[in-house]
Amino acid sequence: MAAEEGQWVLMATGRSPTNIAVIKYWGKRDEALILPVNDSISVTLDPDHLSATTTVAVSPSFPSDRMWLNGQEISLSGGRFQSCLREIRKRAQDVEDEKGIRIKKEDWEKLHVHIASYNNFPTAAGLASSAAGFACLVFTLGKLMNVKEDYGELSSIARQGSGSACRSIYGGFVKWCMGKNDDGSDSIAVQLADETHWNDLVIIIAVVSSKQKETSSTSGMRDSVETSPLLQYRAQTVVPNRVLKMEEAIKSHNFESFAKLTCADSNQFHAVCLDTSPPIFYMNDTSHRIISLVEKWNHSEGTPQVAYTFDAGPNAVLIAPNRKNAALLLKKLLYCFPPQDNDLSSYMVGDKSILSDAGV
Ligand code: ADP
Ligand code: DP6
Ligand code: CO
Repeated sequence: MAAEEGQWVLMATGRSPTNIAVIKYWGKRDEALILPVNDSISVTLDPDHLSATTTVAVSPSFPSDRMWLNGQEISLSGGRFQSCLREIRKRAQDVEDEKGIRIKKEDWEKLHVHIASYNNFPTAAGLASSAAGFACLVFTLGKLMNVKEDYGELSSIARQGSGSACRSIYGGFVKWCMGKNDDGSDSIAVQLADETHWNDLVIIIAVVSSKQKETSSTSGMRDSVETSPLLQYRAQTVVPNRVLKMEEAIKSHNFESFAKLTCADSNQFHAVCLDTSPPIFYMNDTSHRIISLVEKWNHSEGTPQVAYTFDAGPNAVLIAPNRKNAALLLKKLLYCFPPQDNDLSSYMVGDKSILSDAGV
């Protein structure tokens, strides 16, 4: 470390997209290590629309670790941030940059970091900001500290920040394998198919509310594990079967099966929330109206035209099999929920050109 030179700063920046689960993670068997009660499967979204961008800086002049989220300083004292920092620091390597700053492996333990992160979408509103945020934090810290671990290992560190974050380490379709080991060493994410697979799919996000949710995912799922009898049945009996079918549907581009599984799993996850005591209501009337609109359309055509899924919040994630259906869906949404309607503040589209295809 060129400590005698005093005031140098070394920085790294990274960007990670959020991911939306089509088979949901809801419930932990170990709170501290963040080990889930079932496998889950997700689609990683396009980073232009929903991502976290994080810059990490290190300097001998920083007396402590600090973090700013969307411009506001937040506390790093929570166990999750500490776990990620500790696990990455443990794996740090020698660094030498082009300006001659040299940091030795053993010096990382003594140095402090400043972290600034921005989300380009609503934070803590049920669009998986914790997934993008912790994946980005781990990835960017790893870049700064020249960590050489593979993505599986990084996913297991991101998992200790927020469970869903382990899946955002990869693009495309991703499975988080719950693992069997008590130490969490086999609870990692694996890529099922990369971002070029099933390129026809279009994802539309209807932002019903960008307000921060009342019940965080962490406390909501803790209450569900403690009180919902449906959760155990879901984790042990329903999800293992659905995961197999979902993997098959993704592999073979089978939209009918993909859509049926996605909608059923979202509905069962929200049923578990309702089965929790006291019940948790993540969806609102607008969310329910969006479900009805899609269900009526799918029913009238006799086969799924669009899939819907809702995370722990009221915002709808709608998945169309092609641009034609995405355009039709947008038309229907804009007719039923004009953007000036206060309930529905905006639409975010996976592929911008769809907006003009729909003639809006
Ligand atoms: P969401 O549905 O948005 O994932 P959660 O309740 O799961 O909501 O998580 C929200 C929490 O995730 C925030 O309070 C914050 O601690 C963390 N978080 C969100 N964005 C970031 C980010 N960019 N970097 C680090 N942590 C983040
Ligand atoms: C409904 O990963 O946010 O989005 O592990 O406690 O941080 P913690 O929870 P989090 O939960 C996500 C729940 C979900 C479903 C999913 O992403 O699989
Ligand atoms: Co989250």
